Amino acid sequence: MAEELHPDIESIVLSEEDIHGIVSRLGEEISRDYEGKNPLCVAVLKGAVVFTADIMRAITVPMAIDFMAVSSYGEGVKSSGVVRIVKDLDTKIEGRDVLILEDILDSGLTLNYLIRNLQARNPKSVRIATFLVKDIEGKKPAVAPSYVGAHVPDAFIVGYGLDYAERYRNLPYIGVLKPEVYEK
Ligand code: PRP
Repeated sequence: MAEELHPDIESIVLSEEDIHGIVSRLGEEISRDYEGKNPLCVAVLKGAVVFTADIMRAITVPMAIDFMAVSSYGEGVKSSGVVRIVKDLDTKIEGRDVLILEDILDSGLTLNYLIRNLQARNPKSVRIATFLVKDIEGKKPAVAPSYVGAHVPDAFIVGYGLDYAERYRNLPYIGVLKPEVYEK
């Protein structure tokens, strides 16, 4: 399907059609693995909202959804892995099968923190489904997700929930942002 490219986007990494195929595959994998279970999906705001809305409709087993919002402590501190919970879950997860939904695994520090935080609440299991994993040469992410949609190169990508300064989350595809947009 031909897509009208946003003027700030250099190229498309994953088209709407690619995304649809990936989400269907992940939905099948998750539904198969959680057969007979009732997982609690935990979406990590804000980036994961678009992926969450799609993947939950591709999951065929009974499931529930809850949301968490986290933020790193200020500029540059992200690499230390210090994360603050801005919005916590409404649900008690003790004894539950928890599936964390993320849009992208970059350094993995956000997910590394989240998985440890959630594990401390005694769930039955905690797994990660991430739509994207960023491939950074010579760097291994701090966590290993159970479900990965696609690997993407280490470029400035936006769309499908991913932002630059809160913009572009609404693009229906994943694209590379033109450098002049963020080098201004
Ligand atoms: C992004 C993304 C992940 C995290 C990945 O969130 O949604 O949560 O960064 O990076 P990491 O693997 O290096 O920790 P961001 O903090 O930009 O917030 P947002 O989801 O609200 O855009």
